[in-house]
Amino acid sequence: MNNNDFAKLLNENAQKVEKALDDYLSNKDDNGLAQSMRYSLLYGGKRIRPFIVMEAYKLFSGDASVEKAIPFACALEMIHTYSLIHDDLPCMDNDDLRRGKPTNHKVFGEGVALLAGDTLLTYAFEVLASNNLVSDKSIRLATLALSKCAGFSGMAGGQMIDLSSMNNIKSFDELKVMHSLKTGALIRCAMLLGYYAACDNPSKDIIDDIESYATNLGIAFQIRDDILDRIADCETLGKPVGSDDKNGKTTSLTFMSVDEAQGLVDSMTKDAIASIEKYYDDKDNRSLIDLANYMVGRNK
Ligand code: IPE
Ligand code: IPE
Ligand code: MG
Ligand code: MG
Ligand code: MG
Repeated sequence: MNNNDFAKLLNENAQKVEKALDDYLSNKDDNGLAQSMRYSLLYGGKRIRPFIVMEAYKLFSGDASVEKAIPFACALEMIHTYSLIHDDLPCMDNDDLRRGKPTNHKVFGEGVALLAGDTLLTYAFEVLASNNLVSDKSIRLATLALSKCAGFSGMAGGQMIDLSSMNNIKSFDELKVMHSLKTGALIRCAMLLGYYAACDNPSKDIIDDIESYATNLGIAFQIRDDILDRIADCETLGKPVGSDDKNGKTTSLTFMSVDEAQGLVDSMTKDAIASIEKYYDDKDNRSLIDLANYMVGRNK
């Protein structure tokens, strides 16, 4: 795919998932909580995780319509958005800007922001379990994947390491463990959810390839995020620049220069691509490979 076709696909997939997210939240009576959830969920994200769910579904099912994967994609985007709302709270990174707008707690207050995150987390599982276009077995596999990837051995566990990173992370290898959990886990989950929407009898070999692709991609994604926190333009990024230094966080740039870190983003992306290349026989539509190449140089 050329760059224009890839940008178009990213945009089309984002529109599909945003329409579905809007529908999921449209029937909620509003006592202020739904407004706060909508504020963070509906506008501004790149929708990379839903993109991965949908494109993994297409790859492993051969079905070009992504209806079966949409509820899984929405559930994951809800978990991701909850993680961002909580990540920005004063007790975490204490940031004021997200997706180009004031952070949730700046607009609605800390209590409501906390509840908006909690509610997105629980609603995600309701949405996942209500996917009546796939088998019960697919739902069970997806539920296990999402709960593991979001929880103790996934995103939340990684955020715990991040919270005390200043004193605890002594080497880049240890940092990679944190990156693999706090960011890699939800990217892995995106691939798994796409695969489970396509198939409820998973093959171990495919799962191994998926995990290898997504772990490399996820760590590279967080290294690029660390770089952008140092070098990006705040308006383009849609979030504050210099947040990590402000909080004394240990990041990739604690251990190496921006150029060295970017070198690792490039090489881990190559490794990611090598794990899934064999699944694409159509050389023109290699969307998950195109995504990896796009993420290497992203500016937001
Ligand atoms: C931000 O994720 C948090 C990280 C894990 C680095 P994204 O860069 O995907 O944020 P949005 O969803 O596009 O806002
Ligand atoms: C990842 O780390 C965040 C989550 C798992 C939510 P960061 O704290 O670096 O993410 P940003 O830069 O605020 O998006
Ligand atoms: Mg953080
Ligand atoms: Mg943060
Ligand atoms: Mg960051």
